Amino acid sequence: MIIEPRMRGFICLTAHPVGCAQNVKNQIEYVKSKGKIDGPKNVLVIGASTGFGLASRITAAYGAGAATIGVYFEKEPKEGKTASPGWYNTAAFETQAQADGLYAKSINGDAFSDEVKQQTINLIKADLGQIDLVIYSLASPVRTNPKTGVLHRSTLKPIGSVFTDKTVDFHTGVVSNVSIEPANEEEIANTVAVMGGEDWEMWMDDLKAAGVLAEGATTVAYSYIGPEVTEAVYRKGTIGRAKDHLEATAFTISDKLADIKGKAYVSVNKALVTQASSAIPVIPLYISLLYKIMKEKGIHEGCIEQMQRLFSDRLYKGGNPPVDDKGRIRVDDWEMREDVQSQIKELWKDATEETLPKIGDLAGYKHDFLNLFGFDVAGVDYQADVNEMVEMPGLQ
Ligand code: NAI
Ligand code: NA
Repeated sequence: MIIEPRMRGFICLTAHPVGCAQNVKNQIEYVKSKGKIDGPKNVLVIGASTGFGLASRITAAYGAGAATIGVYFEKEPKEGKTASPGWYNTAAFETQAQADGLYAKSINGDAFSDEVKQQTINLIKADLGQIDLVIYSLASPVRTNPKTGVLHRSTLKPIGSVFTDKTVDFHTGVVSNVSIEPANEEEIANTVAVMGGEDWEMWMDDLKAAGVLAEGATTVAYSYIGPEVTEAVYRKGTIGRAKDHLEATAFTISDKLADIKGKAYVSVNKALVTQASSAIPVIPLYISLLYKIMKEKGIHEGCIEQMQRLFSDRLYKGGNPPVDDKGRIRVDDWEMREDVQSQIKELWKDATEETLPKIGDLAGYKHDFLNLFGFDVAGVDYQADVNEMVEMPGLQ
C-alpha cells in the first residue's frame, strides 16, 4: 500500500515501515561512526522501541556489541493497517542486528505487568543467563499496578495554582495561551504511580530475586529537568513529582543492589521531540526555540547522539560516571548551558505566530515529529507501494 501520514491531534495514526527502517539504519551508522565502547555485554531495555530506549538499544548493540532484549508495547500491522512506529523500528533493528550476528530478541506486552516481567526473566535465563545493564525508558499515560489491580492515569498539570502561558500548535504554527487548572492530590498520586519509580523498583526486585543480574549490574532510568519557562507544567508539576520519585528510587535500588555491587542511576536527558513530549503543553514551543539555538551553536543532538554520549562519556568512560549534587548523570548539560538558556528567555517573550517561524525551529520540530512515524525521511520513496505486514524476527 501507499502510506501517508494521517494526523489526529498530537498523534499520527499511520507509520511508514521503510522510513522507520531508514531511521534505524541512520542511528546504527551514527553509533558505528563514533567507534567502539567498552560497554555492557547483555542488556535489557524496557521501553526499547522508540525514543531514548531505542537509541539506548542501538548504542548498546552497535557501540558495545551487546546482546539486547527489548520490551515494548506496540501495535502489530494488519492487512491494510500499519503497525505503530515502534513495531517497524524494532523489526528493522532486529533484522539488521541478527544479520550482523548480534543477539536481539523482544517481548511485546505491558511492562507494568507481572506476566511480562516473568516472561522477560525466563528469556534471560534461557538465552543470556545474566544481564549487566537494565535501561528503564518507559513513557506511558496509564499503568495498572499488578499488586493492587488499580488502573492509574497520569495528568500533565501544574501544582498549587493555575498555569497560564504560551504554547504552539506545531502542526499549524498557531501560538496561543493555555491555562491549566492545578492538579488535586489524587491526580498527583496517580501521575507518580504511572511515571514514578515504583515499577522500575519492581523490575529490579524481580530480576534480582531471579538471579539474572550479573555482579556489578547497572540500571539507568531517564529523567528531565528543563528551564524556568516550563517549570510550572513540567518539573514543578505532576510529571515533576513523578520524576522526583523516580530519582529517589535510584537510591533505593542502589541500596538493594549493594550486595551484588550493582548501581542504579538516573540520567537527565535533553528535551527532544518524541511521542511523549509532543503531548505536553508549552514544551513544543520551548523545543522549537531550543532547537534553533542549539543548531546555530552546533550543539544540537537527537536521541541517538544523546545516548551514544551517555554510554561513551558517562556510563562506560571508566570509573564511576560523573554525577551532579543529587547523584544524577547529566546529558542535558548543553541544553542547560547559560548562553543557551539566556537566549531562550529573551526569545520566549517575543514568540508569536508571526515571529516563531523566524526565531524558532518550527520546521525542525515538524520534521522530527513526522520522522517519529517514518515520514519525511531523506532517501525514502513515499510514492512506492510498500508492504505494511512487516515481521518481527526477534519476537518471543
Ligand atoms: P517514547 O514514547 O519514545 O518511548 C516510550 C517507550 O515505552 C516505547 O518503547 C513504548 O513502546 C514503551 N511503552 C509504553 N508503555 C508501555 C507498556 N505499558 N509496556 C511496555 N512498553 C511500554 O518516550 P521517550 O521520550 O523516549 O521517553 C522515555 C523516557 O525518557 C521517559 O521516562 C521520559 O520522561 C524520559 N525523557 C524524555 C525526554 C523527552 O524530551 N522526550 C527528555 C528527558 C527524559
Ligand atoms: Na523510549
